[in-house]
Amino acid sequence: MMQDPDPFDRLHQAFDIADPAFAENFEKVLDNLVTRCPVAHSELGAGYHVFNRYKDVRRCGQNWRTFSSSDGWMLNPPADNIKILPEDLDPPYHTAWRRVLNPFFTAEALVALEDNARGYAADLIARFAGRGNCEFVADFAAQLPGLILFKHILPVPVEDLPELFNDIDIYSFGSLPDRTPAFGRVYAYLQRFLESRSKQGARGDLVDVILDGVEKEGSPCSWHDKVHVALDVVFGGLATTTHAMSGAIYVLASQPEVRHALLKHPEQMHTAVEETVRLYAPVVAVGRTVRNDVKVAGVALKAGARIALNYAAASRDPDACTNPRKFDIARDEVVHTAFGVGPHRCIGEHLARLEIRVAVEEFLKQIPAFELKPGTEPVYESGQLRTMKNLHLQWAV
Ligand code: HEM
Repeated sequence: MMQDPDPFDRLHQAFDIADPAFAENFEKVLDNLVTRCPVAHSELGAGYHVFNRYKDVRRCGQNWRTFSSSDGWMLNPPADNIKILPEDLDPPYHTAWRRVLNPFFTAEALVALEDNARGYAADLIARFAGRGNCEFVADFAAQLPGLILFKHILPVPVEDLPELFNDIDIYSFGSLPDRTPAFGRVYAYLQRFLESRSKQGARGDLVDVILDGVEKEGSPCSWHDKVHVALDVVFGGLATTTHAMSGAIYVLASQPEVRHALLKHPEQMHTAVEETVRLYAPVVAVGRTVRNDVKVAGVALKAGARIALNYAAASRDPDACTNPRKFDIARDEVVHTAFGVGPHRCIGEHLARLEIRVAVEEFLKQIPAFELKPGTEPVYESGQLRTMKNLHLQWAV
């Protein structure tokens, strides 16, 4: 029997990551891609193939020599694109940066943060708990990651936080033409901040390590590269986690059975966090450049071609995950690619897990029963990154 044509099949041969149909039917399109179209193609810009299956995404992600990051993660970057490092690098320079940055992001290094993180989360929730409603993204999820990052990981003067948050908000959620200028202002801020810290004594924190820098081809790296590294930590560490924790709260609001199960089995919180990241993957897809002729999933790729690794689709691959559409907190193992694969695997994965866990635990402590505000559904914005722009909740007080 012939399969019915699907309204989204047109995306298979004319893929556009910014297509509103993709943004609005995100899960359906991802499921279609991973089950019916292992390799999609986009004709936008120079054109690129999109790999959707878990095994192909893993294969390409692990092989940085053939699938290089040095032309950047953006599929069709604007002319005034600002690079982020170490994301837009290949080994060995990439490895040198990861070696010095990684120690600040291990699960062990982050244990000391948890009490503070819990305190910030509890304070934010206490501001609206008595009101009986909130817009979760603005009232909570857009604030918590920044409080933790800028107070503990990359400590900036507290009085600078409002301006910094404002620009980060514009570059994460603002209209497209406003984003690059806002990103430029964050870059300029970090440049001034690093300059000022370079004149002060060492504090043994991440900023000192960035200022010390690493070697590039036997010489000290440039000052600008250091600013681009700080930018990557800021860029990587905010809107991503904001989206994932909003996804977690959305599931608990819209699937009360999951909320009840989690309240009954708090020991399954780790699985709930991993399911959140798998199904609410904020980094949808990243670009790579093919460095030598190669065949992947039957498709011949020429050196110089661009490809996209669809982390969000691969995280819903039925060959890697049983019943992938279900948010299942009782899974034995959660297999996904939402934190990336290979040398660029997310440096902040343990921090993200901690923040999402703390957010959900503290929310449930103060507001154990809540629901979506009737007549509302979250609004998303999608491209290579996906963000939930708002999530209206209500509860009895
Ligand atoms: C749920 C939250 C998060 C998700 C799903 C996520 C996802 C990712 C993914 C998929 C990559 C790999 C990109 C590639 O393959 O090219 C990545 C890289 C990165 N992430 Fe995250 N991220 C999250 C949170 C964070 C946090 C909290 C931080 C830091 C504070 C962070 C910092 C970075 C950095 C610096 C990189 C570049 C690593 C490299 O190139 O070696 N991320 N992230």
